[in-house]
Amino acid sequence: MSPLEDFSTLLPETAAANEKGHLVLGGCDAASLASEFGTPLYVFDEVTLRNSCSEYLTAFRQNYPDSRVIYAAKAFINRALAAVINEEGLGLDVASAGELTVAQSVGFPMEKVCFHGNNKQREELELAVSLGVGRIAVDSMYELDLLNEISMIARLRQKILLRLTPGIDAHTHKHITTGVVDSKFGIPMVSGAAEDCVARAIAAPGTELVGLHVHLGSLIFEAEPYTEAVSVVFEFAARMKKEYGLDFREFSPGGGFAVQYTRDAPSPSAAYYAEAISGAIASNCGEYGLHAPCLVVEPGRAIVARAGVALYRAGSVKIVPGVRKYVSVDGGMADNIRPALYGSRYEALIANKMNEEASERVTIVGRFCESGDVLVRDVDLPAVTAGDLVAVPVTGAYCIPMASNYNASLKPAVVMVKDGHPRLIRKRETYQDLMRNDVLVETERP
Ligand SMILES: Cc1ncc(COP(=O)(O)O)c(C=O)c1O
Repeated sequence: MSPLEDFSTLLPETAAANEKGHLVLGGCDAASLASEFGTPLYVFDEVTLRNSCSEYLTAFRQNYPDSRVIYAAKAFINRALAAVINEEGLGLDVASAGELTVAQSVGFPMEKVCFHGNNKQREELELAVSLGVGRIAVDSMYELDLLNEISMIARLRQKILLRLTPGIDAHTHKHITTGVVDSKFGIPMVSGAAEDCVARAIAAPGTELVGLHVHLGSLIFEAEPYTEAVSVVFEFAARMKKEYGLDFREFSPGGGFAVQYTRDAPSPSAAYYAEAISGAIASNCGEYGLHAPCLVVEPGRAIVARAGVALYRAGSVKIVPGVRKYVSVDGGMADNIRPALYGSRYEALIANKMNEEASERVTIVGRFCESGDVLVRDVDLPAVTAGDLVAVPVTGAYCIPMASNYNASLKPAVVMVKDGHPRLIRKRETYQDLMRNDVLVETERP
């Protein structure tokens, strides 16, 4: 099997190999992209990106016509991406005023934005209210009171959801589990805090409570956590309707839909989640006598992960006889912290040797000063030498937005490719960028 066939579920949909044996993405030769834009380089395939948007929209609309898909910007947002997300008809979940500002700068419709976060700042809430964001997912009683005050000053009634912590374990990495009782996110259901918040939100003149939200975690491969969340939330909603007259018009089970990072771990389709969640809503509405609410899902990773491929240049190769062959590349944990942070697994290919069979087992490491800076452990590749181009697929989510300047390194460039045309959507940083906010002699204070 050629590397292209072998990696077909991990690479972007347009991936091909040309007569030179080079990986081709969106009609662009990866080796030419690396020469033109330098490495490390993040390449986003526009076709894959747009197709994931429509896969999620179609799957949820077909199974549950009154549904909305809002992209979780934390997975990766910049202006070009926000524009594509808008063109594809998705809304946006933002987690900071920064993400909100990016969206606003490209004219993203503010009514399609939901603002999340466990400690939104007063200025952030003021900005969101003044811009007219469609929903604010309130995370605590403290925030409810703050937002009520801000909305009243603005003489507005802000539509809100309450983000609840349902006490559900989504069986994922503990750093990306959010629905369990012991979580910094959301309003606990078990303690009675959620009920108090519902009562207070309904009575508050500055907020209009339109629904309930949960987010269980990320990389959830099974449907059960979602269907369990539907039961827990709908039982609660029915009780809140009876006791306080809650108008349960919207329900969001958050995001967290899994993607395939390695050949041995396939992920379910959007349709799998859509069918399960819709089925659970229908049966719970029947059981609790509720009208079917609008369903809002917030995929982040599932929209962008597969569209992205990171390209690195191999440099130093170190063989520890009988132990391991290390291949060092020109990026690493500063542009992709996920392996070091979560133990995440990736695969790799040699983008300039796509016609060659794997012949050795190597470990791809980054260039940063940490032993934990390992990008891909024990991967079978054709013989790798300095100058080869290492491609790491499925790097579209949570790499660039989590990138740092560790070791005073420069954040990589990002290009979007389509029909043979590369479009620079984020410039590589320069040393001037690095020192822009660095003050040597204090001449003025902001
Ligand atoms: C509230 C909320 N919605 C959606 C997401 C997106 O998750 P994922 O990228 O796994 O789909 C997150 C991720 O942390 C989140 O906190």
